[in-house]
Amino acid sequence: MSEILSLAKAYESYFKIGAAFSPNSLEIHKDLLRTQFNSFTCENQMKYEPAEPLPGEFHFAPADSIANLARELGIKMRAHAPVWHTQTPDWMYQDGEQDADPELIYQRIDEHTKMMAARYNDVVYCWDVVNEATRDDAPAEGSGESDVYRNSRYFQLCGSEFITRAFKSMDKYSPDAQLFYNDYNECFPEKRERIVKLIRKLQEDGCRVDGFGMQQHYFFAPNYDELKRSIETYAGLGLRLHVTELDVSLMAVLNPTGDRIRPGDAAYDAYLKAALNPTPEQINAISEIYEKLFEIYRQYKDVIDCVTTWGVADDITWLDRFGTDPNAPKIKQYPLLFDMNHQPKPCVAQMIDAVK
Ligand code: GLA
Repeated sequence: MSEILSLAKAYESYFKIGAAFSPNSLEIHKDLLRTQFNSFTCENQMKYEPAEPLPGEFHFAPADSIANLARELGIKMRAHAPVWHTQTPDWMYQDGEQDADPELIYQRIDEHTKMMAARYNDVVYCWDVVNEATRDDAPAEGSGESDVYRNSRYFQLCGSEFITRAFKSMDKYSPDAQLFYNDYNECFPEKRERIVKLIRKLQEDGCRVDGFGMQQHYFFAPNYDELKRSIETYAGLGLRLHVTELDVSLMAVLNPTGDRIRPGDAAYDAYLKAALNPTPEQINAISEIYEKLFEIYRQYKDVIDCVTTWGVADDITWLDRFGTDPNAPKIKQYPLLFDMNHQPKPCVAQMIDAVK
């Protein structure tokens, strides 16, 4: 690897630069992890299913391997997403053949939280206590569903109280960590309104909510004005902000409106052809999006404390498999700050120059 300047170092007086990754990155991305980042997130290993696949049976080893590198380097972690409607085993919702009643669910969340906190409190500065509990679209008329909350198993069984209880448990066992709610499409005005309602309700319930995690997965060209409006709205709730899952899909360049293109749609063939053979200009356009996003993050450094990319370098990214038809060819994605060979993209030098 050629000598590269450290992003995290350059941004020390702005915000932390984080990476989310799985244990396979520990070897593959060894150098980048040691030089470019000062906040780590487990991509999956602290979620319910991997961490407690059966009631009371904890699998700590994968999360431990990441936590141990953090400890070795003196880096703290954003712990990610225990209470979430997905990657949660069915046992959470069941009591034998019956649905679990809410108190049993809260007790399970409480016990899980206690175990995770005891194991990782020394290395964790922040928890995404609850992930993605708002809905994407208005409910169908007459469905009786909430206009704010996702109609998840948790919500069906507990109403919104599971969110409140999850925050109370985390506050009890991790009093020194910052507690975050985390969500996606957080800059869409309608979704933003739902997120604001969810957070206000937690605040009314007397929960300690320290921050909001803006996922910032881009499948469409960013609307920079809405991004600024969103930062101001969330900060206006008295919250600290983290960008928690930043990446930029090729879709943002090839299909900037973000309309889903599926196999069989008229535009699909042309899209697939372009996506399978992206030009250097198209890949570079992703780097330019990063420059603009970071310009805005820097403007709001008083409220943003951390910017985490969902991945380390382009050779390992969940986006290669996301949303594609299983029979369609894999569409390689280039969504991160470091390329397939772990070299910084042009935006990295620009981002560092901008804070010199
Ligand atoms: C969501 C979750 C993350 C991760 C990504 C995709 O945004 O919050 O934990 O699963 O999707 O990998």
